[in-house]
Amino acid sequence: MNDKTLYEKIGGEPAVDQLIDSFYDRVIKDDVLAEFFKETSMQKLKKMQKEFFTIALGGPGNYSGLSLSHAHQGRGIYAKHFKAFVGHLLDTLNEYNLSEEDRYQIISDINHYVEDVTDDSAAPLN
Ligand code: HEM
Repeated sequence: MNDKTLYEKIGGEPAVDQLIDSFYDRVIKDDVLAEFFKETSMQKLKKMQKEFFTIALGGPGNYSGLSLSHAHQGRGIYAKHFKAFVGHLLDTLNEYNLSEEDRYQIISDINHYVEDVTDDSAAPLN
């Protein structure tokens, strides 16, 4: 049995900080996704995303940001953008020493938010 949280398995706060930095480096290099972040303070976004991910991975603290639907609805984010975003997350997670099961657990947790984030949530993810 292994009852460590994903947060602990990934390496705690320093690992989550690094994960989010490296993830958004990838997102911003993707021309299609970069458009969405043209007017965004990446510093603030990363801070919020670090809080969000920490909780999502079973770590400590609080998420002090907007609800995901508030932060995303009306931006014209479609399922294809969500899919590309999650693809970059998977590429980033591949740099960490996680089992395949743990990586897919994280991706599947994140996929639950598709309806909050996208404006065409009826569309299938694949
Ligand atoms: C499940 C996947 C996602 C999660 C967990 C997530 C999480 C977050 C969080 C925590 C914030 C900060 C909210 C705040 O400022 O209080 C945020 C903002 C933002 N997200 Fe996402 N996001 C996701 C998917 C996406 C996708 C797919 C896009 C676009 C392709 C996107 C674009 C944005 C933008 C543009 C902002 C910044 C809004 C601003 O300028 O204030 N997000 N997201």
